Parts: sequence; C-alpha cells; structure tokens
Amino acid sequence: MNTIISASLLGCDFSNLTAEIERAERSGVDWIHYDVMDGTFVRNISFGEPVLKSIGNKIHIPIDTHLMICDPIRYIDNYVDLGSDIITFHYESAQDPEAVIDKIHSGGIKAGIAIKPATPVSAIKPLIEKVEMVLVMTVNPGFGGQKFMPDTLEKVSEVRYYIDELGKDIRLQVDGGVNLETVGILKKSGADTLVTGTYAFSADDMVSAVRNLRANI
Ligand code: DX5
Ligand code: ZN
Repeated sequence: MNTIISASLLGCDFSNLTAEIERAERSGVDWIHYDVMDGTFVRNISFGEPVLKSIGNKIHIPIDTHLMICDPIRYIDNYVDLGSDIITFHYESAQDPEAVIDKIHSGGIKAGIAIKPATPVSAIKPLIEKVEMVLVMTVNPGFGGQKFMPDTLEKVSEVRYYIDELGKDIRLQVDGGVNLETVGILKKSGADTLVTGTYAFSADDMVSAVRNLRANI
C-alpha cells in the first residue's frame, strides 16, 4: 500500500488557516488531519464544527477527521456533512464502538478506530475487520509537539500482523511525534499512514520537510 502523509492542522498557525492549508497542499501531503478535542476525553480543547465549516471548502485533498471526544456517535452526521472523507474515533470514548462504525459507514465514508498508548490491541481486535483504518496513537492524545513513545511500536507491529492476516485494504495510521528520526522505525513496524503536525508545519520550507519525510520512509 502507498504511504499517505496527513498534515495535522493542530500544528499550523491558526491566525492564517487558509494560507496554512494552501502551504500544506503545496507541500504534497496527501490528506489534511483535523483533530477535534472536547476538553473531557482529552484535557485540551482544539476546534470543532464551526471552524471546519469555514475552512472545508478551502481543502482540496481528503479530510481525515480525528475525534478525541466523548460520545462520538452524536457528532458523526455533522462531520460527514462537513466533508470528512474518513472519520476516526477513539475506542475508549465509545459505549458501542460497532454502532459508531456503522454510523460512519451509513454516511458513505470510511471509518477508523483509534487506541491510546495504554489500550492494548486485543481490545479492538474483533473490530479491525470492520474499519478502513486503525490509528495507533504514538503519544497520549491531547497535544501536538509531544515526544514519540517507543513502547507503542510493538502495538503497531501487532496491528500490522492482524491486518495482514485479514488480507484486507485497511490502513495503519500513526499519530504523534512523527518526524525524520521516527519515521523509519514506524514504517518498518508496519505503519502506512503518517500524521505530522509540528514537524511539517514548524518547518520554514514545508515542501522540503515533506520531501525529506518521504525520503526517509
Ligand atoms: C495529538 C493529535 C495529533 C497531533 C500530532 O493528540 O492527535 O494529530 O497534532 O502532532 P505532532 O506531529 O506535533 O506530534
Ligand atoms: Zn490526531
């Protein structure tokens, strides 16, 4: 499977969102990653529906929505309507994860399931075959700019094993601390979809930053 790079807007300059989206698209990233935080599931509050409503039509590449919120099922329809191409929710946040997956699919888009560093892969094993993407968090969700947690690599390999066993087109995404030092080992462990916030957006030259990331895959 080709490697996808998804640029997390959490790492951009919020004072100039349109320009930052353009900068990301020019840099050759494949997707825009939209991190929604509610201050309860994670401590931080980022942005939500009104902001996506304003910027959605400025985004010309797939929108990869990452919900870090409680009771995600209540919000799925809205994030579908706002143009998400894939919605990923946290296993830990949902009372009935299968119902959330069905809800996302009923909107005609792809579904992803995410696990925090402390959640074992065994918790989501029966759900892997029902989604189009598994997100293994490589930091504790809530903030950009954190240090990659090496303990999570084993979980990436474990998910890779189960996806290969299923033989289905299911993406394996990693999110948190992806940069030139960590990308090689993440790819080696089986990740094929890389979220980058701080690394890409803090670069003066995002084109080179993304090119260098791809060169290290
Ligand atoms: C963290 C978010 C990430 C974050 C990654 O909770 O889910 O998407 O933006 O940022 P970096 O690349 O800075 O670790
Ligand atoms: Zn994210």
